[in-house]
Amino acid sequence: MPLPAKPKTEEYFQRASRVLAGKVGHDLRAPNPLPLYIERGVGGRKWDVDGNEYIDFLGGNGALLLGHAHPDVAAAIQKALALGTHFGSDHPLHIEWAELVQRLIPCAERVRFVNSGTEATLLALRVARAHKRKNKILRFDGHFHGWHDDVVHGYNPPFEADGSLGVPPRVRENMPALPADDLNRIDDFLATDGDVAGVIIEPSGGSWGRVPLPPNFLSGLREITARCGVLLIFDEVVTGFRFSPGGAQQLYGVTPDLTCLAKIIAGGMPGGAMVGRADVMTIFDITGDPEHDRYQRVTHLGTFNAAPVSAAAGIAALTHVATGEPTARADAAAARLRASWEAVLDRLGIAGYVYGPSSTFHVYFETDSERLRAASSRHDLETREPLRLKGLPGALTSAYQRLLRENGVDVMSSTSGVVSAAHTDADIDEATAAFEKTVLALRDEGLLQTL
Ligand SMILES: Cc1ncc(COP(=O)(O)O)c(C=O)c1O
Repeated sequence: MPLPAKPKTEEYFQRASRVLAGKVGHDLRAPNPLPLYIERGVGGRKWDVDGNEYIDFLGGNGALLLGHAHPDVAAAIQKALALGTHFGSDHPLHIEWAELVQRLIPCAERVRFVNSGTEATLLALRVARAHKRKNKILRFDGHFHGWHDDVVHGYNPPFEADGSLGVPPRVRENMPALPADDLNRIDDFLATDGDVAGVIIEPSGGSWGRVPLPPNFLSGLREITARCGVLLIFDEVVTGFRFSPGGAQQLYGVTPDLTCLAKIIAGGMPGGAMVGRADVMTIFDITGDPEHDRYQRVTHLGTFNAAPVSAAAGIAALTHVATGEPTARADAAAARLRASWEAVLDRLGIAGYVYGPSSTFHVYFETDSERLRAASSRHDLETREPLRLKGLPGALTSAYQRLLRENGVDVMSSTSGVVSAAHTDADIDEATAAFEKTVLALRDEGLLQTL
């Protein structure tokens, strides 16, 4: 099938290649074979500069639970804009936004706004270390926490390798990592190493549920960290306000000490927050005592913290979230997608399965010949091994993403996507037809196996 002509996209890419470092603005936007240049979005769909339409399961990297251009969010942004974009001072919307977060997120006794998920995890690690006066934070293989030096390793296989050039090796000495599968091993580790301040985890399992956690893992981790005197930090940058209005912690009934939030919190504008127990968050207090204020607190600045336009968008989005309706709608649409895509794999006998909590979906395709030989049904392929789930061949995932796009569907990363409250049954059915064409082409190219 000839590819649709994309003259404007070609032209933008030529210009981008002459001006943008790395040709794109984010590693996951790499050309395949060209980047997408999106001009507008409405609800669950978006359009590129050449007028091609996509059902959007990237959803602003997970920020758009309400879909693109939600009228209430747009109106709130316009109202705030007219009053001035930025004051560098606190302002009424800042307080209102914080009160909403406090009301929704169980552990949010106090709130400190930042500008992204990366800033939220950076600050949580600093606060945990400062509160405990200890240096190490335990993390888990395959869990993603942003791109700052402390956490840029460990989420893509091989997990023990460096995450990026330019990070001094000694950073890793303070970020030990374990697989998220064996509570006894974690217990032993925390009981033995006296220098651990906190444990950070994606409560969905790594990469918003791509690598599921064993049953009762979170409650077990809560018990161990409390007993060992170590702070438990949930990275709810994706799951916050998505898995339930109160995030994964409300859904699973496990309350951490600190939580990192971003994406949905700011209604599609830049923003994030680090929230947590009031006694821990006193570490930010300025008391007027010079010795305390210079040496006994956490330093945190940031020109755009709680910027008014982000606050306005966040308040509008979270007001909807608080009703529970967006979560319920997005969850139902994602359940329909997972069931429909599963039915496609079943009918075609493709060696793989579709899974994912809440309004996420992930597809695992089996490529290991030994496991293929041993499996008598698709269910035999189910696994929780991070190396398998995050180790799909690059040629397969890039062909999958390219073919889905050619068929009018855009996903977030690997084989995975997020569904919004704006996605309709028609969107999901159309996306299912695109998925079927995609897996058939992948099978014909020899990239997928059948059972
Ligand atoms: C779980 C998790 N933590 C942290 C981050 C980093 O957030 P940001 O991209 O806003 O820096 C992400 C981004 O996708 C994420 O998925």
